[in-house]
Amino acid sequence: MSKSAIQYRCDECGATALKWQGQCPDCNAWNSLRQEDARTSVRRVGFSGEVGGRRLSEISEESSERIVTGIDEFDRVLGGGLVGGSAVLLGGDPGIGKSTLLLQVCGKIGRSDGGILYVTGEESLAQIAMRANRLGIDTDRIHALAETSLERVLAAADGERPSCLVVDSIQTLSCEALPAAPGAVSQLRECAAQLVRFAKQTGVSVFLVGHVTKDGQIAGPRVLEHMVDVVLYFESEAGSRYRLLRAVKNRFGAANELGIFAMTESGIRPVPNPSAIFLSRHPSPVPGSAVTSIFQGSRPLLVEVQALADLSGGSARRVAVGLDQNRLALLLAILHRHTGISIHDSDVFVNVVGGVRITETAADLATVVAVASSLKDVAVPPDTLVLGELGLSGEIRPVAYGAERVAEAASRSFKRVILPRANMPRRSQGSVELIGVDYLPAAMEALSLV
Ligand code: TYD
Ligand code: MG
Repeated sequence: MSKSAIQYRCDECGATALKWQGQCPDCNAWNSLRQEDARTSVRRVGFSGEVGGRRLSEISEESSERIVTGIDEFDRVLGGGLVGGSAVLLGGDPGIGKSTLLLQVCGKIGRSDGGILYVTGEESLAQIAMRANRLGIDTDRIHALAETSLERVLAAADGERPSCLVVDSIQTLSCEALPAAPGAVSQLRECAAQLVRFAKQTGVSVFLVGHVTKDGQIAGPRVLEHMVDVVLYFESEAGSRYRLLRAVKNRFGAANELGIFAMTESGIRPVPNPSAIFLSRHPSPVPGSAVTSIFQGSRPLLVEVQALADLSGGSARRVAVGLDQNRLALLLAILHRHTGISIHDSDVFVNVVGGVRITETAADLATVVAVASSLKDVAVPPDTLVLGELGLSGEIRPVAYGAERVAEAASRSFKRVILPRANMPRRSQGSVELIGVDYLPAAMEALSLV
């Protein structure tokens, strides 16, 4: 072996070094560097096994036909169904319901589109069978395999050629050729790479389940995210029975798409009208609350921003839950400067109902309205939707998808929408009263908050 072909790779993190060292310079693991031949560690053949390029127009799209599972919320998050030969990473906290969701999805796919190979490294086959039976899942076409060796999983999948392969979880799988323990980053990376390669070569769709570790990441998540086609996270607010399925990356559809499910005794159920769960239902209007519309992937969602502003005992606190802390500070400064409402001696707490996280500026106006409403003790009528981005000079700037947001409000029986004047549609919107505003004081006046 020529000297330059020797390198040392860390079992834990996969970093390479030219010289052996007792401690990995990247992840600081001890005694984890192992010698390898740099020439064999480089893969020379592409997914298709071909050496040259091909004209794109000659390549058929057959293998990327979509499998529609029939679980609407799931299909929508995937961008309209599961693409053949795609690799999907499903991440989430332990116990959130990943295995349950995938088992239900498998039951649907098995019924309409062919066989499933469900590989489990965590539960016994009897446990899976029991759960499937209890949930009334059609198990005829689901083959289950309790296995943690990557080589044997690939051999089984190659023999069966199912339409879909589920690996639950990628952290339990290990490649025999690597000395590292299952779950080590180098194992995750190698196992995922080989499974993704298998998906591309055979057209079998692969689901990889990944547990999120305590610090909120799938162990080595950044390592896996770039390898797969779709990254889904399954999340929930502590104690809530609702589950949010979020696409953070999707090569076949809109990223940021959100699917909403509820965990019930009989498994996971899609929630058909999700807007309803993000609005708290007060019997009578209460101060400190404003409803706005945020855009998640391809659809609008109504959410409620709640604020509590109260005289501070000492130095004023500003706490934002579900909203960026800096954005809140900026919005409070705009509120004070352009309406004269004094907040310097008040604690301000802002919360978005239902555990959603707002990242859009379209919710700016609703946030300051909720704060002003709490301070003035004046309720915003509950059938009023508030939309708009706030500029530093107090101007209300237009938001994207204005018409869709107004239509969603109309379909949820809202009577009034306060929106940026630039978003005013030319035609009237049925029974909804539209109030176009272009400056913060005008919006406050329309809501009797000044
Ligand atoms: P599971 O799918 O095993 O979670 P994960 O694979 O993400 O670790 O789900 C386990 C939890 O779901 C468990 O706390 C019990 C709950 N659950 C229900 O509430 N209803 C059900 O029908 C099922 C199957 C599970
Ligand atoms: Mg599980």
